[in-house]
Amino acid sequence: MNKSYKITILPGDGIGKEVTQEGQKVLQKIAQLYKHEFQFAKAIIGHTAIEQTGNPLPEETLKQLKKSDAILFGAVGHPKYDNDPNAKVRPEQGLLKMRKELGLYANLRPIKLFDELLGASSIKPEVLKGSDILFFRELTGDVYFGERGRRDEGATAFDTMIYSRYEVERIARKAFVAAQGRRKKLMSVDKANVLESSRLWRETVQEIAKEFPEVEVEHTFVDSAAMLLIKNPRHFDVVLTGNLFGDILTDEASQIAGSMGMLASASVGDTVGLYEPIHGSAHDITGKGIANPLASILSAALLLDISFNLKKESQSVIQAVERTLQAGFRTVDIADSKTSQAMILNTEAMGNKVLEYLAIIN
Ligand code: IPM
Ligand code: MG
Repeated sequence: MNKSYKITILPGDGIGKEVTQEGQKVLQKIAQLYKHEFQFAKAIIGHTAIEQTGNPLPEETLKQLKKSDAILFGAVGHPKYDNDPNAKVRPEQGLLKMRKELGLYANLRPIKLFDELLGASSIKPEVLKGSDILFFRELTGDVYFGERGRRDEGATAFDTMIYSRYEVERIARKAFVAAQGRRKKLMSVDKANVLESSRLWRETVQEIAKEFPEVEVEHTFVDSAAMLLIKNPRHFDVVLTGNLFGDILTDEASQIAGSMGMLASASVGDTVGLYEPIHGSAHDITGKGIANPLASILSAALLLDISFNLKKESQSVIQAVERTLQAGFRTVDIADSKTSQAMILNTEAMGNKVLEYLAIIN
């Protein structure tokens, strides 16, 4: 028997519940096919947790997460808070507190394009083809966690963009190590022409770069990086950036892959790793069974690779997704005018298709 692993499933809100179910199914299948022991536990977060306990990240959830070897997370959010800027308790607070408490300072967002989906993007196929980008978004600092508040009796509000050297150093090292194993190009994105925190960022990245002489480094302002992403996505290899810029740029970059429904992410630090789709809770399609589970399934693949170092297992999940797409199966978000109705699958059927191919590959 191989080593045993504890995985916590954290579905969260909206389609998070629907897609993590498929991600979990894939992990179960892997355990069965490759004779691993995965012990699953479930926990609540976000709006679901607020409803049940009043707290978006209950103590019990946090305790459970800290005991895990890895976490498969869905999404948090509920439209009811989006239009209520005065809400004191919000689902997103659960997510931010979890990132901070678990020390998940590095958010890896691979933007990889499956050839079968070249047509699903609104960007021209000839511009896209061959794009393969890995974002390192800093996740526990910046304006997300800096001092904020109101003054002038509430008429003025502020959020502080703040970074310390050690925060930049630790994520920069991870990004450089990744670049070494790829095409050896790293773009650090900041706004050093305006922001002091960006000047510290750039200075620190320049220092760390000396440890990795074989990696070619480029420093780019965020506005220019945003433009270049669409103009020439193939230019990018590893991108290293702060929390807010990374949030924005990775949503933009998701369009290179055709759909947010395809992109997985890993949040890591020094302890447990957390894996999640980059899409949100999508309440507009919740309960319809049409959400694309591939981002959650690909998140499970990242989990196997990064947290458990099960490379073969991880690759087989990616291959199974590839085979599913090659065979022409689509969820509605990645279908196009040429896709016949019979090939458009719902969430569960798409998950099952991937399981079928997993069994064949093995
Ligand atoms: C993300 C999300 C979150 C973020 C929200 C839900 C707080 O957009 O993970 O990219 O801004 O970090
Ligand atoms: Mg975001």
